[in-house]
Amino acid sequence: MSCKASAPGKVILFGEHAVVYGQPALAVPVTQVHADVEVSASSQPSVWIEAPDINLHAELNMLSSDQPLAAVIHNLFFALHIDPFPSLNVRINSTIPVASGLGSGAAVSVALIRALSSYTGHPLSDERVNDLAFEIEKLHHGTPSGIDNTVITYNRPVYFVKGRPLETFKAGEPFFIIIGDTGIAAPTKEAVGDVRKLWMENKSKWEKVFSKIGEIVNQARTMIEQGKTKELGKLMDQNHALLQEMTVSSPELDKLVQAARNAGALGAKLSGGGRGGNMIALVTPETKEAAAESLTKAGARYVIITKVE
Ligand code: PMV
Repeated sequence: MSCKASAPGKVILFGEHAVVYGQPALAVPVTQVHADVEVSASSQPSVWIEAPDINLHAELNMLSSDQPLAAVIHNLFFALHIDPFPSLNVRINSTIPVASGLGSGAAVSVALIRALSSYTGHPLSDERVNDLAFEIEKLHHGTPSGIDNTVITYNRPVYFVKGRPLETFKAGEPFFIIIGDTGIAAPTKEAVGDVRKLWMENKSKWEKVFSKIGEIVNQARTMIEQGKTKELGKLMDQNHALLQEMTVSSPELDKLVQAARNAGALGAKLSGGGRGGNMIALVTPETKEAAAESLTKAGARYVIITKVE
């Protein structure tokens, strides 16, 4: 017998960073990329992990207990009172690029938790999967808001406010987003830490910036739900300018943002932690190909066009 589970990538549309300070953010799943986990019985004792994408083939006991994959397994088996651990093979494959803002860590955690809990006969509610995945996000990111694990667990567009119950949303009219990757791996933890330093130095200044972002997020949600998606372009531009002020953009991100706008995108912004990683732009069926070409020419490592509905 084997159990399989899959989890999508994600992209933040609006509200990154400010979300850490209690403002809302919007994020959507990106199903073109995914993490897949298969758990099966092993003839050898213990748990064996195979993750070819990160060149890992190891027995669980050989990994430090805070290694993220090992931590998922330890935390889950502890929560499920499974002791001793069964003999298992765990195979992890992912098409989600690492450290680029597409939620690869959270997607692997969610798929791993689901495959292991089903295999051991304890399938979990989405709420429990989400809570367990959030614990692992804290190991990766320090003080994460929880947006990545939430949108990936529920696999739906999410209006996220830290600590509040889940709120999903639906587009009144589907729209297209293009994602462009700078190719620069940028740890979210550092950008979040730097924003924290700015905030500590001048809380009232930065809290005004965070609230402006919160207003943009609320306007964007209304526009999306009412199907007035063209209006989102200028909100993206405004959000990007505020992220630049927060020092989390970079020359490479700004270059891709400009390249998308030049190719007819209705608006563009960085997405996620910033400093590297991804940007997004609002495109139409007519402009999406030109935007993809322009991003590639401007140095994007990959582009993904995704439909939000
Ligand atoms: O880099 P990503 O896509 O995982 O997004 C980080 C989003 C932040 O708001 C910067 C941090 C967080 O935990 O919400």
